[in-house]
Amino acid sequence: MKSLLCWPEPVIRVQSLAASGIREIPERYIKSPSHRPSLNNDVSQPQEVDVPVIDFQNLFSSDRGLCAEALRCVHNACREWGFFQIVNHGVSHELMKRTCEVWHEFFNLPLEEKQKYANTPATYEGYGSRVGVEKGASLDWSDYFFLLLMPLSLVNQSKWPAIPASCRELVAEYGSEVVRLGGKLMKVLSMNLGLEEDSLLKSFGGEENVGACLRVSYYPKCPQPDLTLGLSPHSDPGGLTILLPDENVGGLQVCRKGSWLTVKPVPNAFIINIGDQIQVLSNAIYQSVEHRVIVNSNEDRVSLAIFYNPKSDQLIEPCKKLLTEDRPALYKPMTYAEYRLTIRAKGPCGKKQVESLKSPRQSD
Ligand code: OGA
Ligand code: NI
Repeated sequence: MKSLLCWPEPVIRVQSLAASGIREIPERYIKSPSHRPSLNNDVSQPQEVDVPVIDFQNLFSSDRGLCAEALRCVHNACREWGFFQIVNHGVSHELMKRTCEVWHEFFNLPLEEKQKYANTPATYEGYGSRVGVEKGASLDWSDYFFLLLMPLSLVNQSKWPAIPASCRELVAEYGSEVVRLGGKLMKVLSMNLGLEEDSLLKSFGGEENVGACLRVSYYPKCPQPDLTLGLSPHSDPGGLTILLPDENVGGLQVCRKGSWLTVKPVPNAFIINIGDQIQVLSNAIYQSVEHRVIVNSNEDRVSLAIFYNPKSDQLIEPCKKLLTEDRPALYKPMTYAEYRLTIRAKGPCGKKQVESLKSPRQSD
């Protein structure tokens, strides 16, 4: 594997490119015709869909019927969509709003201030504009800020923005609330799979050891949105993703039955999706689903994704309890750290990575 210590070529900030007033985007951002957003959808009128919405409180209700019904809805959404939205999740709406605002302010700071946090592919922590280190690779129309929230032993707040002044405190508070929510979701998924409540969490290395990170994406407005993507098709490599989408600007698209559908976010909801590690642990009962982000010519978009992941040296393989003679293990074991390396080298690649884990007898 190539060394991941530095970027293969100078980094261009997409936000600066967009602000320069160019009318045509550079070649590097132009996708091949089959990967452009306009192929099956009319960009001016994207097909908006309602991804299942679940009242999170009902999952813990003492009313057994209500609880069973909510569990069933989550199970069906995991099976059929790989995505669902949750409301009444317990995270303060005020905190969500303030955390979004602080990131808007960060991205609006002068370039020199943001450059202090410029990241490298060694850890990806900090201010970045690409994922993957292949020279000449196609690039996406976005910048981001990536930081670690868990395990606490790896957290280094000096790598988080010092300006705006409230950023570190808000991110720590928001992070711990959302990570707690992630733990609850892991229990819900375990129960729905017919496992012990703490089974998936244990497979991830236990509540204290799980990994969690925040990726704040900034998708600047784009003069030619029909030629590029804010984020290329990918499945999330980790366990679960808890996304706070921009409340004013859509852009997330989910691949369903071969077409790209634009998600209509519900106010104050989180969008949850299954990552590759849950696909492996559940032996594909639940599958990660490809998604991507489109951009537009009128408005910038900001989203906050928290990835809830296994401990990095944890060996992840299908849960023994879910294996039967008819349905043996579909995937070979791999640590999450090893799994992540390929994505970090190659960038978004649809579902290729998880498919490459198929045991030889399955792909004969
Ligand atoms: C991601 C992602 C979606 C969005 O960061 O993996 O899919 O809406 N983000 O920004
Ligand atoms: Ni994603």
